[in-house]
Amino acid sequence: MTARTHGTLYGVGLGPGDPDLMTVKGRRLLERIPTVFVPISEISDTSVAGTIVRDLLRPEQVVVPLAFAMRRPRAEREAAWRASCDRIALALADGDDAVFVTEGDPMTYSTFAHLAETLRETHPEVRMVIVPGVTSFAAAAAATGVPLVDARERMVVLPGPYERASLETMLRGFDSLVLMKVSSGLDVVIEALDATGRAADAVFIERCGWSDERVVGDVSTLRGLHVDYFSLILVRHRQTNGHG
Ligand SMILES: C[S@@+](CC[C@H](N)C(=O)[O-])C[C@H]1O[C@@H](n2cnc3c(N)ncnc32)[C@H](O)[C@@H]1O
Repeated sequence: MTARTHGTLYGVGLGPGDPDLMTVKGRRLLERIPTVFVPISEISDTSVAGTIVRDLLRPEQVVVPLAFAMRRPRAEREAAWRASCDRIALALADGDDAVFVTEGDPMTYSTFAHLAETLRETHPEVRMVIVPGVTSFAAAAAATGVPLVDARERMVVLPGPYERASLETMLRGFDSLVLMKVSSGLDVVIEALDATGRAADAVFIERCGWSDERVVGDVSTLRGLHVDYFSLILVRHRQTNGHG
């Protein structure tokens, strides 16, 4: 008797929102593979990845939502990862392939990276292939005309929520900064930009690549306002910025 061979799990980055920003490889996999796992986050309560692929899938493809409890205690989060891994391994057990879709790039602040780590531990027999995607900040640089880095400039990518003193240190120390997850505590970011004289270097991008994308050049106008979770700020010296 020969051992059964599991199918392959493809972790596919879908890009920031516009389906045209998906890679050809990712799109081909989505057209070919019958089972598509879609992460549901309790932070945004919806599946952005599911929305991006919605119009590309055929009715006979099976879409399996997987809930990830990012704000729960560690033990609960890990139990959720393991349950998702068991579900995925089951789908692959008969040799069929499956896709796990993520918005942006699967290796950049992504559910997929955690899932892949757990899957390697709990189901080492599963083969994984990762297909990169356009990150939100690459798309934001393109949308605003702000280059991320040039020549000998150094860039740092930071996740919110922010602590003002350490953010100020980074703003003083780097030519170019990508400030992700700015929606909670945006006022702290605005204060730090003001205090370091870098407010004029900053541009805010919300829902980049979506039909309601918004770009705000004067970030101080956002003080005290609610902004979408899918928003970030690029900071780069004004004289080399393209956003005017
Ligand atoms: C969990 S991270 C996901 C990052 C994603 N994997 C990537 O490659 O960009 C979520 C954060 O990414 C940023 N983000 C993701 N998509 C975005 C978009 N379409 N427009 C602006 N920011 C976005 C926001 O800062 C958001 O809080």
